[in-house]
Amino acid sequence: MKLLFLNGPNLNMLGIREPGIYGRQTYEDLEKYIRGFCDELGIACQILQSNHEGALVDAIQSAYGRMDGIVINPAAYTHTSVALLDALKAVSLPAVEVHLSDVSSREDFRQVSYVRLACCKTIAGHGFQGYRMAAEHLLAEKNGASQVGKE
Ligand code: DQA
Repeated sequence: MKLLFLNGPNLNMLGIREPGIYGRQTYEDLEKYIRGFCDELGIACQILQSNHEGALVDAIQSAYGRMDGIVINPAAYTHTSVALLDALKAVSLPAVEVHLSDVSSREDFRQVSYVRLACCKTIAGHGFQGYRMAAEHLLAEKNGASQVGKE
């Protein structure tokens, strides 16, 4: 199982940005956390963060044919980016949308998610743990699919 973990703009500022919402842990802590549970679950992971929409599109495209799924926190691009939605649709890989905060209880403009239209699940408000929940979901889906194939 190979998963791409993609993080959008300003997530590199974790620990500094709005700690009341996003906590005190840093982006490096998040990467360490992801690598830790991937090791435990037997997942090969690639982790990327970018502040640039086009770089995120490139990363999604480069997952095509190489990865089994995508865990994506598009950050602010969640609410604006048709380009990320189209990229996810183009590669057609199972994808889970993750948000550290509970976006559903925040501002109106955060209630819109374009990427959600190309994701099989959305996990919000669980902090770092949301990334693990997303990976476990994709793993279960893959195992389920391979079981069906054996029947
Ligand atoms: C976020 C929520 C977004 O609305 C926001 O723009 C972010 C982070 C989250 O992880 O809670 O940058 O995706």
